[in-house]
Parts: sequence; structure tokens; C-alpha cells
Amino acid sequence: MVLQAIKYTPASSAGAATLNILDQLLLPHQSLYIPISSCEDAFDAIKQMKVRGAPAIAIVAALALAVECTRTNISSRSAAEARDQIIERLGYVKKSRPTAVNLSDAVNKLSNVVTKAASSDVADGQAVVHKYIAAAERMLIDDVSDNKAIGAHGAKWIAEHTAAGQSKTRNAAQELKILTHCNTGSLATAGYGTALGVIRSLREAGLLTHAFCSETRPYNQGSRLTAYELVHDQIPATLVTDSMAASLLAREGTNVAAIVVGADRVAANGDTANKIGTYSLAVLARHHGVKFLVAAPRTTIDLGTPSGEAIVIEERDQQEVTRIKGPQIGSNGDLREPATISTAAMGINVWNPAFDVTPADLIDGVITEVGVVEKQNGVFNFEPLFASMTE
Ligand code: MRU
Repeated sequence: MVLQAIKYTPASSAGAATLNILDQLLLPHQSLYIPISSCEDAFDAIKQMKVRGAPAIAIVAALALAVECTRTNISSRSAAEARDQIIERLGYVKKSRPTAVNLSDAVNKLSNVVTKAASSDVADGQAVVHKYIAAAERMLIDDVSDNKAIGAHGAKWIAEHTAAGQSKTRNAAQELKILTHCNTGSLATAGYGTALGVIRSLREAGLLTHAFCSETRPYNQGSRLTAYELVHDQIPATLVTDSMAASLLAREGTNVAAIVVGADRVAANGDTANKIGTYSLAVLARHHGVKFLVAAPRTTIDLGTPSGEAIVIEERDQQEVTRIKGPQIGSNGDLREPATISTAAMGINVWNPAFDVTPADLIDGVITEVGVVEKQNGVFNFEPLFASMTE
């Protein structure tokens, strides 16, 4: 069985396009796909984190509007009206979550596609919608191939730049272990994953001996989702709570070749917003002499944001910190109705930022689909990555 967060079927003579997403609030206990038929459905699913992960939310937003286009009469309008309606709908769904740049990047690119399509003298609404749908569907396809390329570049870099990697390529007995945070795998993308794609790629190359995933409090993407993917792929792995990372690095020494994480937005100077707890891991990596790598497609690099200070960090409901939800477990291990329990003193104030910003100084490399960017004279320069990029 292939793990798939997003299932999309294009429109055909049989009917409108369909989009179904795996409801990640129910994982790992229940695999339930829910239909997304409109931008309102996508907005709610993204906001509630039924789908999450920077690439996945951008793709779901784009495809939800593609589905909407095939279910409504947008294409019977004039080219200008179709363009305006598509741009208005994209603007709506863009507001669902603020930190991941992939969503606003997709919205900008798709808005450009329809603006260009509508500027042709012979264009009608149908032509504009057609171009929109083709571009949205392309995002789904490209994401998987981009992730496989990220995995390959990351695995090669780790093999060449770490003691564990060099030892493994010489077939020496040393372990090669990777620690990752949050969920960056098939559930956060169209497939394969970014940081988890690097782990998959190292495993496929016969280099990885073990993966560690952190629980990722408070939303537990690590214990619920990454652990689920690692078990699914039969990759030898161990779950640790976030607070165990320092002890883990102290115990494992150079066996941990690198900490590899994803990103929601990489600023032009390399400062990186990612799941809360990423910054602490980067500090620990520096202290223990472990490489710290960010794996992300170019769509996550935001040259328009000069540094981390300008990144808007989403703050979420305090109940994500004070409560835990999960199925009740019967005496013989059977799963019963989900229950929510409180784990904090009533009345305490809570701060719940969903992301933090890791300073570029602590990052050894940014693994993209076109290669690994390292600092030159202490400075990241991502501009050359975009020289060959087409809209
Ligand atoms: O709040 P989430 O679960 O959407 O946060 C996800 C992350 O922080 C991931 O590391 C990031 O989006 C990269 S996913 C390939």
C-alpha cells in the first residue's frame, strides 16, 4: 500500500474532477479519506490541519479550486470574469494558514497563469479554466519528482560530508543514523517527502541504519505521522520525545550523521521557519558537532523575505497544548471511541506558536531538488537556484 495524503482524479467524460484527502486528525488509528469539493472545504481542512505540511497544503488548495472549476460554471464566463473569479478564490484559500510560503507561492504562480491566459485576444473562460487546471495538476505531479531529487541530493551530501556517511560508503561497520522532526513525508507532500525523503533515499542506498523521530509536541506530527510512515516503510526507527534529543545526541555521538528537517519558509538569508522545536534541535546539533540540514523544494525558499524576523509565525489554539485527543484503549488493546483529556492545570496561560525560526548560522545546508546549497563565506545565496526556473 502506498501512503497517499492526496488523491485526485481529473475531470473526464464520467464527471467532474474529484479530490480526497486523508484526514490526518484521525491518524495513526484510522485511515479515512474525506472529499474536498470546494475552496471552503480546502480552507477548513487546512485550518483544522486535516491536511498539513507546507507542500501538501499548497497542492490541496490548488486542486480544490480545480475541482470547483469543473463543478461550477466558471468556464462559461468571459476570460476576464473567469480570471477574476479564480484569483478571488485563490485569495480566499491563501488565508487559511500564514507561515508556509508554498501556499502563497502557489497562489501567486496560479494567478499569473490565469492572468496570462486571459490576456490572449482569443481566450474565453473555458481556455482560462483549462490553463488553470493544467497548472494545478502539474503541481501535484512535480512535487513527487522534486522530493525524489531532494532525497537523492541529501543522501549524497550526507554520504560525502559526514564521518558516518564516509564510513558507510567504505562499507565500514559504523552506524549511520538520522534524527528528524515533525512530519515531512508522504503525508506532508504529494509523496515521498522532503526530510523524510532523504531518510528514504539513504535507506534505499543501503546507507541508513536507523532513524529517530521526535514526538513534536504539541500536535505530535512525529509520533502520529512520521512514526506511522517509518513503520509503514519498515525503516528501523525509534521515537523520542522532544526533550530527549540532547541525551540522544550525547549517547549516539557520531553515529547520528545529521539532523534533517523540513521547512515552511526559508528566508533569503537562510533563516528557516519550521515546526516549533526545530530551533532547539539546531542548537543541539551545533553543540554536538552534528550536521544540521534543511530539506525543502525551491517553492519553500522565499527571496521576498529578507530574514526570519519578517516571517509571520502562526499561533494556534491553546487547547492543542492543554489537551490530548486519542482513542481510548480497552483492556485487551482494542481501540474505542476517541476521547479528549486535559493535561494542564485549568486557568494557566498558554503560548502555542506552531513554528520557530532557526537562524541561518546554525544551518549547514539547504537540500533542494536542484542540489544542496551551502554558505559561502558564511552567507547563503539562493538566487542561482532560480535562474533556470520556469513559471
Ligand atoms: O503544522 P504543520 O504540521 O503543517 O507543520 C509542518 C512542518 O513544519 C513541516 O516540517 C514543513 O511543513 C515541511 S513538510 C515537507
